[in-house]
Amino acid sequence: MLILGLNMFHADASAAIVVDGEVKFAIAEERLNRHKHFGGFPVLAIKACLDAVGAKISEVDHVAVGQDSDANLAKKVQYALANPAKILNFIHLRHRKEAMRDVRSLTANALDVDPAQLKFQEHHLEHHIAHIASAYYCSPWEKAAGFSFDGSGDFVSTMTARCQGNDIEVLDRVYLPHSLGSFYTMICEFIGYTKYGDEGKVMGLAPYGKETYCDLIAKIVRPKGEGLELDLSYFKPLGSNQGMEVLPDGTVRLARHFSDRMEKLFGEPRQPHTEIAQRDMDLAYAMQHRFEEIFFYLLNHLHARVPLDDLAMAGGCALNSVANGKIFDRTPFRRTYIQPAAGDEGLAIGAALHTYHSVLKQPRRDDLKHSYLGPEFSESRIQSALQRAGLEASKLDRATLLNQTAEQIAAGNVVGWFQGRMEWGPRALGNRSIVAHPGLPNMKHVLNARIKHREWFRPFAPSILAEYQPEYFEHDHPSPFMLHVYKIRPEKRKELCAVNHVDDTGRLQTVAREENPMYYDLIAAFQRKTGIPVILNTSFNENEPIVCTPEEAIACFQRTKMDVLAIGPFLVSKPGHREEATATVSIGKTDV
Ligand SMILES: [Fe+2]
Repeated sequence: MLILGLNMFHADASAAIVVDGEVKFAIAEERLNRHKHFGGFPVLAIKACLDAVGAKISEVDHVAVGQDSDANLAKKVQYALANPAKILNFIHLRHRKEAMRDVRSLTANALDVDPAQLKFQEHHLEHHIAHIASAYYCSPWEKAAGFSFDGSGDFVSTMTARCQGNDIEVLDRVYLPHSLGSFYTMICEFIGYTKYGDEGKVMGLAPYGKETYCDLIAKIVRPKGEGLELDLSYFKPLGSNQGMEVLPDGTVRLARHFSDRMEKLFGEPRQPHTEIAQRDMDLAYAMQHRFEEIFFYLLNHLHARVPLDDLAMAGGCALNSVANGKIFDRTPFRRTYIQPAAGDEGLAIGAALHTYHSVLKQPRRDDLKHSYLGPEFSESRIQSALQRAGLEASKLDRATLLNQTAEQIAAGNVVGWFQGRMEWGPRALGNRSIVAHPGLPNMKHVLNARIKHREWFRPFAPSILAEYQPEYFEHDHPSPFMLHVYKIRPEKRKELCAVNHVDDTGRLQTVAREENPMYYDLIAAFQRKTGIPVILNTSFNENEPIVCTPEEAIACFQRTKMDVLAIGPFLVSKPGHREEATATVSIGKTDV
């Protein structure tokens, strides 16, 4: 049975294909059309899914969309009637959503086939149920508490659920305009991070701040019952799409979230790309602090209703790895399964698996242990891409490739590491990664100056051999998808200085050999040379979506000051940059 899952006309449009209950392939459209957070129709992703399993669209039995414009309609109408200025906008959105519901015509047009050939049944699933489904059905558990939270989706910002067997029973929803995600976005915008998806950057700024504004910021969002409420006087009215708009070309744009009241309290908002003042850092601190307080309040209430050890969680806010790392200290939950694509691209998997298990009542399958669900490329394709780029490469056997690459990392070089299937979700997890020595004091600055050009305050992440996690980190719950931040043990902070954030934490990826043998063996080879079972891992890109193809990896390698590229069995060196690895690079406290 073939089920195609879709997230479409929404940020991070994506497609996933599920064959007899197994997720065979999944990809966000941005990786193929190179348009960051693309929010249109994922035509290239659909084609890639079908190609991956050798199927035609006419053979697909079900198409499931992680969006249901009829969900929570009464609440939407109630909101529109209470906000007359929004009624026209509401009617416009309804019309647009009606047009989008015709998945059959959209698919037939995009793939240039006769609609009469399409036999699939169409399913629409409410946004947050699709998020919870993406986590629960990929988890190893027969029962779990389900939790989803983000800015908004189908007029809801937060959902709790009891998951058991094939069923997800919704317990509670927080309706717009009340949203913990919108609270976070509003403050990020105020301190100059105004683009969709900037929230993850500001999380790294928070530890530089002090408690100055915690009391003031706490007034903006408060617990209410089992949910939360915003003080709306701090917000501009955001409408039923909570200030997020998808433009006709698929660009996702955010409206200004904060009201004049924020300016009266905190002064002028910071303009993007200007110096970051202590006030901005203190606001970031207070924002993360309050986010965590409300998050744990919600989780503790959920645990009271679903008193289990296991938590299946998704939604854009579930990418807050700092908060995720504290779940075990601040709530009774003992295990988490957070879907690698916890943001909206993950809706494609959630909708497809919900159709299989909940609608069609098919039995559960093995859990999803890894995120390598994207495309891979043959050795001949890689070889011809290298030749076309005019690069001389050595073809090495596996052991030699691992040994020489580890040697390059140990020597302080920056290595592009392109192997196997691309990761699903926003994190590079060892197949489309740039890797480097985690223990060189200047490595963060070298990476930023040469390749990544990121904000000075953003940390780089460590990948660690799974069995060494307790020796290096203060928590032993695994973090296979780089979605938990833990304290690094005091005696290991110097050894990991390039990945040790200002608050002595690291957003680790736990690497188990059965999940990615090639990457595991690379770290093990590095350990044999240095004694450190950890490497620095950052995504293989330069201010663009993570590279997908060999050609994109080679182009990134050539235009940046990366030293070495290990791509498939080939190793390519670029001499002439090593002297910078130990040089001091000065970066001011502005962003880029
Ligand atoms: Fe979402």
